[in-house]
Amino acid sequence: MRIGLLGYGVVGAGVDHLAQRLEGVSVEKVLCLNVGDVPGGRGVADISAIIDDPEIDTVVEAMGGLHPAWEFASGALKAGKHYITANKALVSAFLPELVELAKENGVALRCTAAVGGGIPWLVNIERCRRVDSIRRIHGIFNGTTNFILDAMHRDGAEFERVLAQAQKLGYAEADPSADIDGDDVRRKLVISTAAAFGKLIRESDVPMFGIRTVTAQDVLNFKALGKVCKLIARAESGEKIKASVEPVLIPAGAPESAVPENFNLVTYESENAGVQSFFGQGAGRYPTAYNVVQDCLDVCGGKNDFYTKQYVAAEVDNRDVLRCYYVRTSASDAWLQSVAATQGDGYIVTRAVSQADFHAHVRELQSRDHRLFFAAVE
Ligand SMILES: NC(=O)c1ccc[n+]([C@@H]2O[C@H](COP(=O)([O-])OP(=O)(O)OC[C@H]3O[C@@H](n4cnc5c(N)ncnc54)[C@H](OP(=O)(O)O)[C@@H]3O)[C@@H](O)[C@H]2O)c1
Repeated sequence: MRIGLLGYGVVGAGVDHLAQRLEGVSVEKVLCLNVGDVPGGRGVADISAIIDDPEIDTVVEAMGGLHPAWEFASGALKAGKHYITANKALVSAFLPELVELAKENGVALRCTAAVGGGIPWLVNIERCRRVDSIRRIHGIFNGTTNFILDAMHRDGAEFERVLAQAQKLGYAEADPSADIDGDDVRRKLVISTAAAFGKLIRESDVPMFGIRTVTAQDVLNFKALGKVCKLIARAESGEKIKASVEPVLIPAGAPESAVPENFNLVTYESENAGVQSFFGQGAGRYPTAYNVVQDCLDVCGGKNDFYTKQYVAAEVDNRDVLRCYYVRTSASDAWLQSVAATQGDGYIVTRAVSQADFHAHVRELQSRDHRLFFAAVE
């Protein structure tokens, strides 16, 4: 396998190092902005040096973003090159187009590192589906938010202080929005839903709420309720897909409640195998590069579909999902009062309500109280 690598940052440089240990795999050229950063004079500044090179059979992308990543991906696939990427934003946004282009050109499309970093999640979903059908997926898919929530539970610290610490340690980016608002998790859920159920859902159809507004006082309230707060993504199969990304108050003692620091814990439930969970490093140079390089070896071994053979478009519908919610808001709202089951000091817990109705109401309430926080209660 002769690789054209796009990007030489955290993941790209890791892929280059790990690939050096593999027989029959070589990184021939590296596209990046600072060509001089790449050892061995392999840096190139123009994508055509890779796409038009007939000696390169595989493009590995570790660049990020939607553009020019999409243009590079479509160019590489049309040129008949296998495409391996860690870029969840690209795959989630362009999944049908990428799958179609890979099929048309008879090449592989793989993105194991895009969901779960170093955890063998998508490849085990793929294995499971050879003999079984997956009904549900759920879990902690983001290490940054888990680090923040874990530290807040342990130290009683305020969100802003823990976020600054996470940034200092390299667990959170300078602009942490994609992590703390849930976009990163939602992209991973869209990709996982495709692999697990063969259903293509749109990112914008999945209701999402992050942890930006959680406070130290909220965490004290969670503890008083005997719960631990985690940012949880979940999807359930059916003609329509039930899917959401939201904070959830988990009973202390449940497996997710014990996930420390920046780790992930992701689970699928299948008809015969039952519950299978995967715990590990969801990010970081070498864990992520490990899965990229595993993809390279799988493609060398002849794997060339995108985790499942068939995909159909599907809608998201959460009207029948009933959940109780913890809500802390300074805004008064008649609907919220009408569904309140417990009144705490500065918060309420609702009776079981439709998840779809709840998210719609909260969106409206947020325009009056942008510091509002909520979490589903289990
Ligand atoms: N970091 C992780 O732990 C992790 C985990 C899972 C998935 N991922 C995914 O892996 C991808 C890469 O992440 P990363 O953390 O390695 O990012 P990064 O450290 O910022 O590296 C990105 C690299 O791409 C280069 N680049 C950006 N735009 C480019 C362009 N238009 N043309 C050429 N080169 C360009 C950058 O060059 P400059 O340095 O010169 O700007 C840099 O070398 C992202 O999609 C991310 O979501 C990352």
